[in-house]
Amino acid sequence: IRPGPVNVGGVELQNHLLLAAGVLGTTGASLSRMLLLGAGGVVTKSIGPLPKEGHSGPCLVALEDGLLNAMGLPNPSKEFVDELAPLAKKPVVASIFGGNPEEFAEVAGWFSGKVAAAELNLSCPHAEGYGAAIGSDPALVEACTRAVVRTGLPAWVKLTPNVTDITAIGKAAEKGGASAIVAVNTVKAMRISTGLRRPVLGNRYGGLSGTAIFPIAVRCVYELYEAVKVPIIGCGGVSTADNVVELMMAGASAVEIGSAVHGDIQVFEKIRAALYAKDGVMASEIVGCAHG
Ligand code: DOR
Repeated sequence: IRPGPVNVGGVELQNHLLLAAGVLGTTGASLSRMLLLGAGGVVTKSIGPLPKEGHSGPCLVALEDGLLNAMGLPNPSKEFVDELAPLAKKPVVASIFGGNPEEFAEVAGWFSGKVAAAELNLSCPHAEGYGAAIGSDPALVEACTRAVVRTGLPAWVKLTPNVTDITAIGKAAEKGGASAIVAVNTVKAMRISTGLRRPVLGNRYGGLSGTAIFPIAVRCVYELYEAVKVPIIGCGGVSTADNVVELMMAGASAVEIGSAVHGDIQVFEKIRAALYAKDGVMASEIVGCAHG
C-alpha cells in the first residue's frame, strides 16, 4: 500500500483512512484536527432536515470490546454548514439523513459545492422514521440515493448490517447511482444493568460499534464485493493496520475508523505509519484479493 492521494468514490483522499461519521464530527475544528492527525478524509456527524435533540441519556456506554450508543441523531441541521467554511476543498464528506427522498435532496443541496461528497445515513439502528427504517427497503434506498445524485454531489451510501440480505440493499444503492457503498453502520444491540435492573441506555436499544463488530464488517464487505461494482468503503471495529488490510482483502477500497478514535486520538497516525510501512503492494492489488 503506497502513501499519497487516492481517489475513492469521487473523492480525492489524502490516504486510505477516513474518520467515520459520528465521532469528532460535530465541529469544523475537530474535523480539521483529524485531517492534521493523519486521517485521509473525514465524515461529519449526520445532519438532518430539522434541528434534533436526540435521545435522552445515557446515550453512550463503553463496553469491554466496543461502544453502545443511542445518540438519536442529534444535530443543528442547516446551520452546521457554516462549520465547514474553513474546510473548503478538503476531503470532507457530509453525512446526511432524512425521512424520504425529498428531505435527502434538501439536505444534500445545502452541502452541494461545499463538500466532496454526501454520505447517506440509511442505517442508524435506533432512529424512528430515519436510518435503518429506510435503509432496509431497497426501493427507498434507490430513491433516496437518486435524489442526492441529482444535487450533483457524489453519493456514498452507508448501509446497516441489521438486514437479512445486505447485497440487495447494496444493489439498490448502486442502481440509484451511488459512487460508493459504506459498510457498515452499528449493529442493533442492548445491555441491561443487573445492579440497576434496567437497560443501560436511555433509549433501551442502541447501536454497537468497536472491535466486537469487526467480523460482521468483514462479512458484509466480502458479500457486497461479490454483488456490486461500485467501490466499497469498509467500516466497523477497525483499530489496527492489519484490520485495514483484512477489510481490503475482503474488497474495501478505503476504510473508515470511528470507535478506535475514542480510545486513541493518534490512531490514524499509528495505522498510517504501520500500513504504508508494508511496502511494495499497491492498494489496488490488495482490494478483493481474498475472493476466489
Ligand atoms: O449508531 C449510530 N448512532 N448510528 C447512526 O447512524 C447514528 C448514531 C446516533 O446518532 O444515534
